[in-house]
Amino acid sequence: MTTEPEIAQKGPYELDLIEGKRYHWCSCGLSLRQPHCDGSHRGTGLRPLNFTAAETGKAWLCGCKRTGTPPFCDGTHNKLSKRKPCRPPSRSVLNAPH
Ligand code: FES
Repeated sequence: MTTEPEIAQKGPYELDLIEGKRYHWCSCGLSLRQPHCDGSHRGTGLRPLNFTAAETGKAWLCGCKRTGTPPFCDGTHNKLSKRKPCRPPSRSVLNAPH
């Protein structure tokens, strides 16, 4: 069981949120639909953060999954070790022909 989320990317995802729309932010870092949940968290002990956008406009959702203000980036990604790897390539990349 995973207790620490994977780093999907070392920076935020820029999104255009729509007021009143419900979103499901991936907190485990395993989703292939970043920054949205695709159900990959099953079995990890982690769960997506569901939220409704308070207003329409640009937002920066955390990609490193270490933010202190989920689902939004708070700059914590700047403190990550340059050597700490992001998650492995997506399944579609791994299955691509050579
Ligand atoms: S991307 Fe995670 S804190 Fe910025």
